[in-house]
Amino acid sequence: MEFYVVDSYRELSDKAANIVAEEMFHNKNAVLGLATGSTPEGMYARLVKMYRESKLDFASIVTFNLDEYIGLCPEHPRSYHYYMNRNLFDHVNINAENINIPCCSDGWNSGEICREYDRKIINAGGIDLQLLGLGVNGHIGFNEPGQHLQAQTHLVNLAKETIEANSRFFDTPDEVPRQAITMGVGSIMHSAKILLMASGQNKAPAIRESFSGLVSTKTPASLLQLHRDLILLIDKEAASLLDCVR
Ligand code: GLP
Repeated sequence: MEFYVVDSYRELSDKAANIVAEEMFHNKNAVLGLATGSTPEGMYARLVKMYRESKLDFASIVTFNLDEYIGLCPEHPRSYHYYMNRNLFDHVNINAENINIPCCSDGWNSGEICREYDRKIINAGGIDLQLLGLGVNGHIGFNEPGQHLQAQTHLVNLAKETIEANSRFFDTPDEVPRQAITMGVGSIMHSAKILLMASGQNKAPAIRESFSGLVSTKTPASLLQLHRDLILLIDKEAASLLDCVR
């Protein structure tokens, strides 16, 4: 595992963008696994800047997003489709056909959609670099703590803490969707390389639980300790409860 503790969110965003850019330089056809949430926003802004300065080319890049809420159409300002367009896709030369985001409206056959998503990842040759944020409860994507974790893409009922944490993006807590589709931990763990980012004091307990040496389904991110090529990139607030940093 490569482990970086940086001083600020700005530094975290710069370093994350450099890691993604390096992957893209080495492989013009890279398959990127993309994350949403507030943490990667700064990184996306830097990638857009690099593109505008002609330092990056997205023409042959393929992307797979981790997750999407159920019940929000792609045009909904709180959907992850909208987030990705606003933060990245609208500003770079990515081919729309290479963008993949799980999508499931009420009434659709979610099982078939999930299986198709996994097939697409396999047909693309797997994910070269998977970006991850971290939930306050240790979730990755929307793989929530529980007795079991699911390997494949699946429909999930969101945990109470996730609904609470994500209610800051909605006008009222009632508007926060209760379900989502998420890539499973298997698809995440099969990625050739993983970059996990976390920023802020509120992530410190989840970082401590995830990298304590124990692996538990109660902290989904703890599974990442088993990955061969993990980059852990966090700021000093998120690192503040780790024994090796204190
Ligand atoms: C959501 C997303 C996760 C993300 C998490 C943390 O629950 N499904 O992929 O990592 O939020 O978000 P933030 O970066 O806003 O703390």
